[in-house]
Amino acid sequence: MSEPRPGIREVFSADTIAARTEDLAREIVADPALDAHGGRLIALCALQGGFMFAADMMRALSRAGCHPELAFIQLASYGEATVSSGAVTLVRDLTIDVAGRPVLFIDDILDSGRSLRYAIDHLEARGATAVRSVVLLDKAARRALTIAPDYAGFACPDAFVVGYGMDAAGRYRGLPFVGVMEEGS
Ligand code: IMP
Ligand code: MG
Repeated sequence: MSEPRPGIREVFSADTIAARTEDLAREIVADPALDAHGGRLIALCALQGGFMFAADMMRALSRAGCHPELAFIQLASYGEATVSSGAVTLVRDLTIDVAGRPVLFIDDILDSGRSLRYAIDHLEARGATAVRSVVLLDKAARRALTIAPDYAGFACPDAFVVGYGMDAAGRYRGLPFVGVMEEGS
């Protein structure tokens, strides 16, 4: 027996995400700080939720004529799960040297802002020449720090979203769209 499928209401369709990603890639390629055609740019995917947006962003950048080196970093934030300070920990560091190179940090959603703050500080401390951020969703209502993404796909409603890389207790990352879990599901 298959388990009942919870109600997930689509908020951003696959086509809407794809079109917006192409627009963002063109803007990013035109950003002088990233020197997109200089051959030094690093695209840094934040695991785990950023994997799908990063994969599509890499293809969109390629179509826009930019071919960055791809790297991964994994951060964990305990801001919501516990009553602790909201500290971010580095679960997995990137394996290439960012010194002297521009970095585009790619994540699924900017929520409290703690992960992005940590990533920027980490990359600047290691000598990145410039750090820019692109997130698919900007959930500004939840911001705990004064920080904004350089590039954002969409303003996100103040609700827990899933799909397109984002999970609820480890599930639904593979949904091709972004949705909100319906009440009672
Ligand atoms: P921040 O450090 O609070 O900005 O955390 C951002 C991270 O929290 C994202 O990379 C997501 O992994 C996760 N996150 C925040 N809001 C949501 C949501 O609505 N659905 C799924 N994951 C979320
Ligand atoms: Mg994440």
